[in-house]
Amino acid sequence: MRFGPDPTHTIAHLSDPHLLADGKRLGGVVEVAEHLRRTVQQLERTGRAVDAMVFTGDLTDLGEPDAYRELRKIVLPSADRLECEVIWVMGNHDERGPYSQHLFDGPDTDDPQDRVYDLQGLRVIALDSTVTGYHHGGLDEEQLRWLADELATPAEHGTLLAMHHPPIPSVVDLMNLLGLDNRDAFADVIAGSDVRGVLAGHFHYSCHGTFAGVPVSVAAASCYSLDAGAPNRSLVGVDGRQGFDLVDIYPDSLLHTQIPLGSPPVVSGFDDAVADALAALPAHERREAFSSKSSTWTPPAY
Ligand SMILES: [Fe+2]
Ligand SMILES: [Fe+2]
Repeated sequence: MRFGPDPTHTIAHLSDPHLLADGKRLGGVVEVAEHLRRTVQQLERTGRAVDAMVFTGDLTDLGEPDAYRELRKIVLPSADRLECEVIWVMGNHDERGPYSQHLFDGPDTDDPQDRVYDLQGLRVIALDSTVTGYHHGGLDEEQLRWLADELATPAEHGTLLAMHHPPIPSVVDLMNLLGLDNRDAFADVIAGSDVRGVLAGHFHYSCHGTFAGVPVSVAAASCYSLDAGAPNRSLVGVDGRQGFDLVDIYPDSLLHTQIPLGSPPVVSGFDDAVADALAALPAHERREAFSSKSSTWTPPAY
């Protein structure tokens, strides 16, 4: 049993794997494929049931076909084991043609790669915020018209937008040069709609904000991180602090939990036996046993 309320849906929000062909290291240093493998392993280790893995862009570093093939090779077996959907999103390091061809068996195209998914009544819209030939982002008029049209019909559990460029500023100031353009028109489209949250990437560190009254959550990258605490005006990448988010959706709220990679020393904890023993108690005794400062309760196995 769970002691807390059950969410209606749970999503694993992963971002920025930046894979390269032939297992190459990013910048000759970062083991991007290995880091992505560790990220999906960490997700599976949680034992949580998820409805979808959502990857908010920069799936590859250079848009190489072999990098998209490698991505599928790492992610799809994990998605099969989790029995969940995989939702890809374009990032500025991706290329629309290879993205369409090698992830969707689609045409070689430069059209925006926008797609709509229905997760048992929760709508997830993968929005392509890339601008061909640039690293900053934007949504063109046709995309905004399409989005307004889609949002005109509310979904049973509301909508999450998944996009690469966050519609919020960055504390790493140089990243603001690579931010999302045309935000006012975007805000007009989502204001008053059933959009409950925006999932984004691109910053390579975890942060949260609001945009047009909607919560925005940026997931850390799986490849390397930007050091948001580095001296102002600098842009410092570090091979650490990778992670992903679990997003639990409740009828009236969203819960974003960052799961960092790595295994720091364990200094305390309880195992399943404690949870099982608490679950076996009547509800009123459970609270007393686990919460009371004067509790003398000890689980049978201890
Ligand atoms: Fe990135
Ligand atoms: Fe990016």
